[in-house]
Amino acid sequence: MVAAVARRHVSLQSPHVSEFEADVLEGLRATPKHVPAKYFYDAAGSQLFERITELPEYYPTRCEISILRSHGADIAKLIPPGAALVEFGSGSSKKARILLSAAPKLAAYVPVDICGEMIEQEAVELRTDFPDLKVLPVTADICKPFELPEEARDAAVRIGFFPGSTIGNFEPHEASAFLRNAANILGRGSTIIIGADLIKSADVLNAAYNDAEGITAQFNLNLLTRINRELGGTFQLQTFEHHAFYNRERHRVEMHLASLKRQKVKVAGETIEFRTGETIQTENSYKYSVESLSALARGVGWFPLGAWTDTSKFFSIQAFKLGM
Ligand code: AVJ
Repeated sequence: MVAAVARRHVSLQSPHVSEFEADVLEGLRATPKHVPAKYFYDAAGSQLFERITELPEYYPTRCEISILRSHGADIAKLIPPGAALVEFGSGSSKKARILLSAAPKLAAYVPVDICGEMIEQEAVELRTDFPDLKVLPVTADICKPFELPEEARDAAVRIGFFPGSTIGNFEPHEASAFLRNAANILGRGSTIIIGADLIKSADVLNAAYNDAEGITAQFNLNLLTRINRELGGTFQLQTFEHHAFYNRERHRVEMHLASLKRQKVKVAGETIEFRTGETIQTENSYKYSVESLSALARGVGWFPLGAWTDTSKFFSIQAFKLGM
């Protein structure tokens, strides 16, 4: 009882902990069980994701960087002088650096991320590497309305950048909502540049999410470690298994954690029951075609300007302009 009261007190002081608790409990009470994929990225999870991007089987990051390297000049033509570049969910800004090197003189670069510490740290390095660039980080949830810094609001135009196929983590209706929110934030005349993983053979997709080294499995299971640590969970990691597979009908890779036995687990004081083989769905990674993403974007007022792919056509960078 004392512990529960103390925890509630802490939750009130740090809203992200309480949102995590509310989302995890809601997802674990539901049938089928699920936890939002955004919760993978604690410090350990972010490090594991960095390792995933270097795996031989995990092609998306390499393909996207190769597109930015070979078509950066063309893509940068969409960014007029005096524009503000606004990156949604910027993280380490590694891909933005390639665009920034190719872009003309910008009014500002605005990295937006929920993790304020990471973007503030990255901003220091960007200012050293791009001494003429105004770097104005914003700590915000990219799915919610937020205000841009004055310099970005006053810029000639605002160009959105949403790389990494992060859009693939959204359900299609959430991707529409994100694009609508981005339109409101970027405003009249804006352009958005999106990195999206493409539909391809199930073999390539299944390998990318079931790497031989087992790093993706560790990344998936780390969610349980996080729940144990932050929400007083009692998950025994050796009783859950990483499952990942391409769901052809829905054009998405699904990741799950499957219980290897019938068991009860406590989370934040609540008891959650598992049947043998029952799973927690931890991620959907939607795959698009150039046409299917265009159709989705068009539906919320964004019109296609161009699309670029890597030589194997595994990944795409697509640009859209806001209709009047
Ligand atoms: C960061 C959402 C693009 O879906 O490929 C990598 C996350 N999950 N391996 C993806 C992820 C498993 C990644 N995104």
